Amino acid sequence: MVESIPVITIDGPSGAGKGTVAQNLADQLGFHLLDSGAVYRAAALHALNCQANIDDEPSVMAALESMKASFQPHPDGVKVDLNGRDVTQQLRLETTASAASKVAVMPAVRASLLDEQRSFRTSPGLVADGRDMGTVVFPDATLKVFLSASVEVRALRRAKQLKDKGIETTMPNLLQEIGARDERDSSREHSPLVAAHDALIIDSSDLSIRAVVGRIVAALPMLTAVE
Ligand code: DC
Repeated sequence: MVESIPVITIDGPSGAGKGTVAQNLADQLGFHLLDSGAVYRAAALHALNCQANIDDEPSVMAALESMKASFQPHPDGVKVDLNGRDVTQQLRLETTASAASKVAVMPAVRASLLDEQRSFRTSPGLVADGRDMGTVVFPDATLKVFLSASVEVRALRRAKQLKDKGIETTMPNLLQEIGARDERDSSREHSPLVAAHDALIIDSSDLSIRAVVGRIVAALPMLTAVE
């Protein structure tokens, strides 16, 4: 029974360290990894590639009918193929992230991506990171974590990540983009970014990745999947 397969959800705003924490945790436990942001980014990129109007739900939904995406584990996160093309690098661009946060407000888009996300729940277990993993996609998760950090710390982390990938940006631009994205993600009507009532809340502003992972592992109940 799929419900018996353990899932650890990590939700929070962008730049809180969810991706790295989720990957470390998945490696440590030998679990699969779902980067649900990549699923939204792929959907947005496909809509853009199809010349859909990114602010119009029917136009985006029509484009998604022809989307064929595959998400493969990769040492740096997830490798994504979109309709036969490797779009891993393109998905990380701020322009893609911004389009993703626009399509993510659309309830039909969110509903159409649910099965894809739930299909990652396979034995021996899953670590899923995103915005609504614990509240909507896996409400029966074994452990729910809400990871936050101050907007300044998050912008600095994002600047470093982008620089490591050879993408130049400026702090004012990043602060503005992250602020706008936070606002859209938190204030949207469907699946807004909120901590599940039963989530463990961790502020990572002054914590290393290792310390965050340590806190999560310490909070884990015994994980035994029943086949
Ligand atoms: O985590 P990320 O930056 O890759 O996410 C990109 C956008 O996708 C983000 O602005 C919000 C949206 N998203 C979402 O609405 N729900 C999720 N579970 C994951 C991402």
